[in-house]
Amino acid sequence: MTISKKLQKWVDECANLCKPDSIHWCDGSEEEYQNMAQLLIKNGSAKKLNESKRPNCYYSASDPSDVARVEDRTFICSKNKDDAGPTNNWKDPEEMKKILNGLFDGCMKGRTMYVIPFSMGPLGSNIAHIGVQLTDSPYVVMNMKIMTRMGSKVLDILGDGDFVPCLHSVGYPLTDGKKDVAWPCNKEKYIVHFPEERSIWSFGSGYGGNALLGKKCFALRIASVMARDQGWMAEHMLIVGITSPEGVKKYIAAAFPSACGKTNLAMLTPSIPGWKVETVGDDIAWMKFGEDGRLYAINPEYGFFGVAPGTSMDTNGNAMKSMEKNSYFTNVALTEDGDVWWEGMTKDKPKHLTDWHGKEWTPDSETPSSHPNSRFTAPASQCPVIDKDWENPKGVPISAILFGGRRATVVPLVNEALSWQHGTFLGASVSSEMTAAAVGGKGQVRHDPFAMLPFCGYHMGDYFNHWLNIGKKADASKLPKIFYVNWFRKDENGKFIWPGYGENIRVLKWIFERLDGKNNFEDKPYGRIPAKNSLDISGLKLGEKDIDKLFDISIEDGISEALELREYFKKFGDKLPKELTKELDDLQERYNKL
Ligand code: OXD
Ligand code: MN
Repeated sequence: MTISKKLQKWVDECANLCKPDSIHWCDGSEEEYQNMAQLLIKNGSAKKLNESKRPNCYYSASDPSDVARVEDRTFICSKNKDDAGPTNNWKDPEEMKKILNGLFDGCMKGRTMYVIPFSMGPLGSNIAHIGVQLTDSPYVVMNMKIMTRMGSKVLDILGDGDFVPCLHSVGYPLTDGKKDVAWPCNKEKYIVHFPEERSIWSFGSGYGGNALLGKKCFALRIASVMARDQGWMAEHMLIVGITSPEGVKKYIAAAFPSACGKTNLAMLTPSIPGWKVETVGDDIAWMKFGEDGRLYAINPEYGFFGVAPGTSMDTNGNAMKSMEKNSYFTNVALTEDGDVWWEGMTKDKPKHLTDWHGKEWTPDSETPSSHPNSRFTAPASQCPVIDKDWENPKGVPISAILFGGRRATVVPLVNEALSWQHGTFLGASVSSEMTAAAVGGKGQVRHDPFAMLPFCGYHMGDYFNHWLNIGKKADASKLPKIFYVNWFRKDENGKFIWPGYGENIRVLKWIFERLDGKNNFEDKPYGRIPAKNSLDISGLKLGEKDIDKLFDISIEDGISEALELREYFKKFGDKLPKELTKELDDLQERYNKL
């Protein structure tokens, strides 16, 4: 193991502050993983699932107060408040350091501090970056092993190069003989990013994006800042390869707000013959221009941290197969034979379960057996449709970018942008009904530009500008084309009109044809939609009227949506790029002409 002076110094400083009983440098071995599992089991923090049902799988239930990302406790501490912008919580970095130094002082007493060197992206890829997470949670170590490439091999590549320091503590020191609990955490939570320093401090939560710091904290919030400074893109996007019946393959990236079906789209099983979808990533894309002027994407992650409820052999058989072994389950229910279950996994509910609170559960119980944000952590390599190039250090060339949200009304099934600038406007206009992935607000429609609202590490107005600059810098003919999709349109009875899941290939097929330059579109004020009969709906139980409903936007609704967006954009003040105001003006003018 090569440990640079810089890394050793930082680890020593953190150890002096956090005062752990011992320090363990993670080598990333299987033996180490099993040792962590034993520690957790001994402490009552984890269970091993039935080896014959789910080999090498573990289960934990969290404290009921620590179940999702805490956006109101997430901070971007740039030197200038204005650099964090109106969509982030901000505190002066010096003031925040004082608070954090107080909280972290002695926070690991009675515990081990684990040092986790990890690479976001294939080892050695020129799009990848390295981080080192310090944590007092063996649960985090295990989940980081699934979610990132971690251990000694990362240190060997790092040498004395730069890394993103990520300090994490559950904030539950074992002082004065205090006994440990199954899921240690702290009422007080701080998920803090210092963009100028490119460092992360996370205190008080052991859950998901709050604690697995490679994911949202590094690969999105800090990486978005690095990407702005270095001319690349860090996006909340899945990446898939789509192959047509003729054998032509194109890659697309797609941004959707949390828990809007990204994992399902990333592993889609096409319902129409001859088409193939292969997975590169299900949550985050880092994209850089290649020598040929095209945008290339890597998935910086190594595993999936997917929402369990609703995942089944019908909705996402490939995700189900990815988690058959070597996976970790959090806040789902346990079956009598030592396996897992969650709402929607099977049509018939098991007669008896242990719910995520550890209580007996039957189908008559009034509460769901699993938390709505319960998760599986599974190695990406186990996905049956993982793309052959998912670890290609060069990345995969992106032909199209999709935006989408969960909207019952006003947003059509699919819509093509007229240009990169118009596409940037569409990205900025994303809004969605909130889900359980973050604490609070479930069901409310909120603006979530580029699906990056909780994840952009700087001023969102500057981020819009970064997108525009990427477009200006590039050869327009080589840039991905941009589309906006909405699988979630409902009819007057509140029922979803579009069947979704594997049927979404029909929309991807139309997009594929557009990328090939087929003129199968019709102009609408908001963009281009499939021309009559050009969306393949053969074999679907949808009539022409239903299809019309999927694209129906009255002039009044269109204009009021535009007005509402104009109001929202005011939030960004003079950082709102004039190009976006122009797109809004053009949109309204196109409506006015009707
Ligand atoms: C996630 C999220 O967990 O977006 O991916 O919340
Ligand atoms: Mn996500």
